[in-house]
Amino acid sequence: MKKTVQTFKEAKQNGRKLSMLTAYDYSTAKLIDEAGVDGILVGDSLGMVVLGYENTLQVTLEDIIHHTRAVARGAKNALIVADMPFLSYHISVEETVRNAGRLIQEGMAQCVKIEGGTEVVEKIKAIINAQIPVMGHLGLTPQSVNVMGGFKVQGKTKDQIEKLVEDAKAIEKAGVFAIVLECVPTEVAEVISQIVSIPTIGIGAGNKCDGQILVTQDMLGMYGDFVPKFVKQYRHLGNEFIEGIREYIKDVEDLKFPKEEHSFKIDKNIIEEIKK
Ligand code: KIV
Ligand code: NA
Repeated sequence: MKKTVQTFKEAKQNGRKLSMLTAYDYSTAKLIDEAGVDGILVGDSLGMVVLGYENTLQVTLEDIIHHTRAVARGAKNALIVADMPFLSYHISVEETVRNAGRLIQEGMAQCVKIEGGTEVVEKIKAIINAQIPVMGHLGLTPQSVNVMGGFKVQGKTKDQIEKLVEDAKAIEKAGVFAIVLECVPTEVAEVISQIVSIPTIGIGAGNKCDGQILVTQDMLGMYGDFVPKFVKQYRHLGNEFIEGIREYIKDVEDLKFPKEEHSFKIDKNIIEEIKK
């Protein structure tokens, strides 16, 4: 059955933990959807995982639209969330609504995610006024990497924690249906999860959140040499991948592939005639 923002709200009320993963293409989204996650995020982590950038800042709205369309075609049941990339919600309220709308209309997403707290409240309200549900994102917000001075755990000092709580309350009041909490101490995520009545979705935020999200390529061991502390690798598909490809190369060299069952045949007589 198709998951909606209502599914997310009900899960928190019923104490059912939500699971989300990222996807950027049709075939991966199809598999993730079949496994039964609640939501699929077309994250701007796309920039790093798929496009090979160093951070998320170079990802454009066109990139997210292109990949969200592919994911939407593959995922029939999961709620599809499209990330609003850097600069797509920073200029004006008007541009923000237009860009969020394009993620729905052209990207075929059901909702959008936007990084930030009090400073984006007006934008969040305007998007929701256009009947587009919004997911919030607090803590480590990767689009602020240059201001934060790197990818660091957030919410360690009293000031930072108070700011996080203020932001969570502000965006809940603005109407977000859920909040991603990235790289914050477990206790801080717990406090925020208790304060807000909408689900919190943690990544590097401990086990007290109302749900979890990971980058699929991280949790399946397909991406990079660096594994962040908060990632559990459920598989090591990167190794499997390389082994499979090496076997193929060797088979080609040894004339073991393709075999008859992989090949097409025609009537022998026709070939004999042509050879004449
Ligand atoms: O872009 C992304 O993948 C994200 C998640 C890590 C929350 O924003
Ligand atoms: Na993101």
